Amino acid sequence: MPAKIAIVGAGLMGSGIAQVAAQAGHEVVLRDLDTAAAERGMTTIRTSYDRFVVKDRLSREDADAALARITTTTDLEDLGDAELVIEAVFEQLDAKHEVFRALDRVTREDAVLATNTSAIPITQVASVTRRPERVVGMHFFSPVPMMALCELVRGHRTSDETLDRARAFAEGVGKTCIVVNRDVAGFVTTRLICALVMEAVALAESGVASPEDIDIACRLGFGHAMGPLATTDLTGVDILRDAALNIYADTADEKFFPPALLSRMVTAGALGRKSGQGFYSYES
Ligand SMILES: NC(=O)c1ccc[n+]([C@@H]2O[C@H](COP(=O)([O-])OP(=O)(O)OC[C@H]3O[C@@H](n4cnc5c(N)ncnc54)[C@H](O)[C@@H]3O)[C@@H](O)[C@H]2O)c1
Repeated sequence: MPAKIAIVGAGLMGSGIAQVAAQAGHEVVLRDLDTAAAERGMTTIRTSYDRFVVKDRLSREDADAALARITTTTDLEDLGDAELVIEAVFEQLDAKHEVFRALDRVTREDAVLATNTSAIPITQVASVTRRPERVVGMHFFSPVPMMALCELVRGHRTSDETLDRARAFAEGVGKTCIVVNRDVAGFVTTRLICALVMEAVALAESGVASPEDIDIACRLGFGHAMGPLATTDLTGVDILRDAALNIYADTADEKFFPPALLSRMVTAGALGRKSGQGFYSYES
C-alpha cells in the first residue's frame, strides 16, 4: 500500500509534490500556517489537474480520486502518522529548524523527514532533530509535475535505509534520482547552474556577446532547453545571485562570486520575469 505522506508548506513546491504524490496513490496531508495558504495550494493543484484532463493526460475520474486523497491542515499533530514528511517552507535555515524541531516531536519514530531545500546543507537541517539518520534532502524541480529530476542528498548521518525510502517514493511518483553523497552548498544542480550563469553574466557584462547570443549558444550548441540568462530571468535574478553568494561563502571559489551586473540588477529591481524586466523585457 502506498505510504502516507505529509507535506509542510503548500506553496509552489509543496503543492506540486502533493499533486504528484496523490496522483501516484498516496494519501497526502498538506500543512501550511493558515487555512488561506493551504487553500491556495489546493487551488493550484486543482487547476493543474484540470489542465492535465483537458490535455487528455489524466482522466477526470483519476483527477477527482487523486484530489480526494489530499487533505489540508494547519495542525502539526495531523502529521503524526505519516511515513514520509517532505518540508517545503521558505529557504531560510531558521524556518527549516522550527519545522524540523516540531516534526521530531510529533511524527512517528520511523518516519523519514525530507527537506526540499535547494541549497542548505542537510546536516545543518538535521542537527536540531534526535534522528539525523532519518533526515534526507529531496530536491524536486519546478514545476514538479513536469520536471523529471529529484536530487537526493545525504546529510553527514543519513542512513542507507533513509536514502532508499526517499528514492522509492521519488521513483514511485515518476522521477529519476541522482544521489549527492556529500551535502556541499548548492549540491550538484545548483552548483552547475550557478557556475554556468555566473560565466554567462560575465560574458554579457564585458560585451563579449549579447544575452540573446549567449542563450542561443547554449540552446543550439549544447542542446539546452533554455539559455542560462533566460533561465536566470525565470528563476529570479535575486534567487540566483543569493544562491551563488552562498556557494561562494562555503567554497571561497571565485567562479561563484556574482559579477557586479547581477547585483546591480537586484538593486534596480530587475529581477526577471516576476518584475517584468531582467536580461529580457516581459513588459508587453
Ligand atoms: N521555487 C522553486 O523553483 C524551487 C525549486 C526547488 C526547490 N525549492 C525550495 O523549496 C522550498 C519551498 O519553495 P517554494 O518556492 O515552494 O516557496 P513558497 O514561498 O511558494 O512556499 C512556501 C510555503 O511555506 C509556508 N510555510 C512557511 N513556514 C511554514 C511552516 N512553519 N509550516 C507550514 N508552512 C509554512 C508558506 O506559508 C508558503 O505557503 C524552498 O526551500 C526552496 O528553496 C524551490
